[in-house]
Amino acid sequence: MNPPGMATADDTGRDDPPPSVLPGAPFLQRSAAGLTLDGLALDALAREFGTPLYVYSQRAMLAALAAYRQALAGREHLVCYACKANSNLAVLQTFARAGCGFDIVSAGELARVRSAGAAASQIVFSGVGKTAAEMRIALQAGVRCFNVESVGELERLSQVAVALGRTAPVSLRVNPDVDARTHPYISTGLKDNKFGIAHAQALAAYRRAAALPGLRVEGIDCHIGSQITQVEPYLDAIDRLLDLVEAVEAAGVPIHHLDLGGGLGITYRDETPPDAGTLVRRMLARIDARGHGRRPLLLEPGRSLVGNAGVLLTEVQYLKPGADGDAKNFCIVDAAMNDLARPAMYGAWMAIEACVPRAAPAQRWDIVGPVCESGDWIGRDRELALQPGDMLAVLSAGAYGMAMSSNYNSRPRAAEVLIVDGVPRLVRARETVPELFAGETLLP
Ligand code: LLP
Repeated sequence: MNPPGMATADDTGRDDPPPSVLPGAPFLQRSAAGLTLDGLALDALAREFGTPLYVYSQRAMLAALAAYRQALAGREHLVCYACKANSNLAVLQTFARAGCGFDIVSAGELARVRSAGAAASQIVFSGVGKTAAEMRIALQAGVRCFNVESVGELERLSQVAVALGRTAPVSLRVNPDVDARTHPYISTGLKDNKFGIAHAQALAAYRRAAALPGLRVEGIDCHIGSQITQVEPYLDAIDRLLDLVEAVEAAGVPIHHLDLGGGLGITYRDETPPDAGTLVRRMLARIDARGHGRRPLLLEPGRSLVGNAGVLLTEVQYLKPGADGDAKNFCIVDAAMNDLARPAMYGAWMAIEACVPRAAPAQRWDIVGPVCESGDWIGRDRELALQPGDMLAVLSAGAYGMAMSSNYNSRPRAAEVLIVDGVPRLVRARETVPELFAGETLLP
């Protein structure tokens, strides 16, 4: 699909748009100049800003948000971007200016989204381990809702609110015990997961919430996992949640909004998740069929708003061909597991392409970083024609890439560029070595 208003970066003189490289990433294209994002050649960006470098397209993020919004039109709703996926200030500002709300999980995220211009009334606060200090800060800011995950948290929040002379708006995050059919590390709605209040205990928890002095029951919440590629787990969760809403209201505790969390997957390789519009329409149909259509709806998408809007660029440093025919060939690049943890942490497969492909026979390479761990790999068994100095792009890296990066091996974190109206903006400077230990002290 050629995005509207986008010049084709194809020098063949034909009007055909260059093919999109990945479904769900319409702004990532192949052209005579190699891979482009939002019309800009990635090889040139890597050479201008240095590597490792994250590059994001603002247009792609806004298009992803619009897909949710269009399907929700005519309903009272709030899309709360789960900012853990990518919390760069300029990315947050992009969503704040678009009128998006935010899902946060720490006082640090609260400070970030506020610095980026978010209104407190558009923020929901999730997470299993909120401290009393975080509760105070969020209450003073006036967040829209606390998504509470245990009875202990209800008790503490009530105490903190009473001490401040405030009332905390709460939604109980219920664990619906449905299988999101995703990777076990990112599945959150099964009863073996630490998240949420067990479905069987939720009615009692609502009664407790309604009786506590510092709380006001606002809604019900669930989040069943991440990188979900089917609609059915969401529909199962909706059924379980609405059963509970009916029971809780019958017990005399009114519930206002439904928050269905995030979790919609993206295409990394050959996954075929529903698009956001299809998912939302099917959710709304189920909610309506159960007679709950008047309730305001909150969603907390993260990955599906930013994942396929970004890439990680890295330069090939060394090639180490294997000693014999069946030994591995290693391609050592300047990005590592500290820059992009997903492959090492989850065994995640992320596409890797040469920014400018070589017209030479491809060989099979393991793409690895400089960190001193055998688990430090970005991709395995990739067919590529490579030379030192080539720039590679790791695709679908806009979500849980930079946000999960670390300084392991005392490696400064990467720089970030956001393409805004065709202009590449450096939105995070590359970290410097002195910054790495600026907060540390030598002993006397
Ligand atoms: N809401 C809550 C309460 C969450 O815990 C999460 C993600 C989201 C919303 C957003 O989910 P999304 O739409 O992004 O799937 N680091 C892992 C993903 C961890 C997701 C954690 N929670 C990865 O790289 O795959």
